[in-house]
Amino acid sequence: MLAVVPPPVTVRVPAKVNLHLSVDDLREDGYHELVTVFQALSLTDEVTVAVTEEPGIEVYGEGEGSVPTGRENLAWRAVEALAAHVGRTGEPKVRVVLRKGIPVAGGMAGGSADAAATLVGLASLWNLDVTRDELAEIAAGLGSDVPFALYGGTALGTGRGEHLVPVLSRHTFHWVLAFDSEGLSTPKVFKELDRLRAAGNPPRIGSHTPVVEALASGDPRQLALLLGNDLQAAAVSLRPDLRRTLRAGVNAGALAGTVSGSGPTCAFLCEDAQSAVEVAAELSGAGVCRTVRVAHGPVPGARVVGGDDAP
Ligand code: C5P
Repeated sequence: MLAVVPPPVTVRVPAKVNLHLSVDDLREDGYHELVTVFQALSLTDEVTVAVTEEPGIEVYGEGEGSVPTGRENLAWRAVEALAAHVGRTGEPKVRVVLRKGIPVAGGMAGGSADAAATLVGLASLWNLDVTRDELAEIAAGLGSDVPFALYGGTALGTGRGEHLVPVLSRHTFHWVLAFDSEGLSTPKVFKELDRLRAAGNPPRIGSHTPVVEALASGDPRQLALLLGNDLQAAAVSLRPDLRRTLRAGVNAGALAGTVSGSGPTCAFLCEDAQSAVEVAAELSGAGVCRTVRVAHGPVPGARVVGGDDAP
């Protein structure tokens, strides 16, 4: 009798921006304790998983040439981790196709998003009885930002960023994103922050509480005053041109700009959707970045496209 091969499953997964990212000192395990407020944006990747006799990864779209297609890709590690979790042995007979809209090594957690989408897609493809919280535990073992890509929305992250609590966010916020022509390595940016802190005492951003209050109010002008990222000084130290990009976004009419995560993508908060379109048009003519995108948030985390039966 012929085995029934399940149809491929496609999952859409959001990028994140850190509205607040305060980094504490280096821990013994090589990570930094941090407090962050994540928001999931409408800038997305699509990940398709399918049963195959030729396992592996294919990548199309944004940064396709610089994404590894071997076992080192975090999405493949997600395949292996989920297979191990449910006791599947042997090489998983899975093909993973990544269609990328999120910049690679851009500080928007694109690789983490692909890993989260792979977990959700495979849970559906393999018809597994796993909850999203169970997937989040596997996700945390893959990377600090992977659990957030599962849940999406707006959330407070602590620990390495993997412990999440949802944050109330009223209304929709409108963003313009400036992609750089080259990525930045997250470990290098954290190391640069350690170096800056050893050499002097760069100012640290304060508590996350005012950001949480601004999100509840839904007022972009209030939130704009409070965007803050301890990694920004380190990203700018490694990539001084970012200063110019940040200035150009505000000159183009954005309420405020911030480096997203470890950069180099700059995220600009705008008054409304119309203003975001205008800021994007002006910024793309300013010659300070490779390309510009408009996005809004918060949006949900990794979801099967055309279905709502996933964990
Ligand atoms: O968890 P993830 O693999 O995404 O982290 C990549 C790197 O970023 C870590 O190896 C570490 O150097 C740095 N990092 C950190 N503190 C965190 C998160 C990441 O130092 N909280």
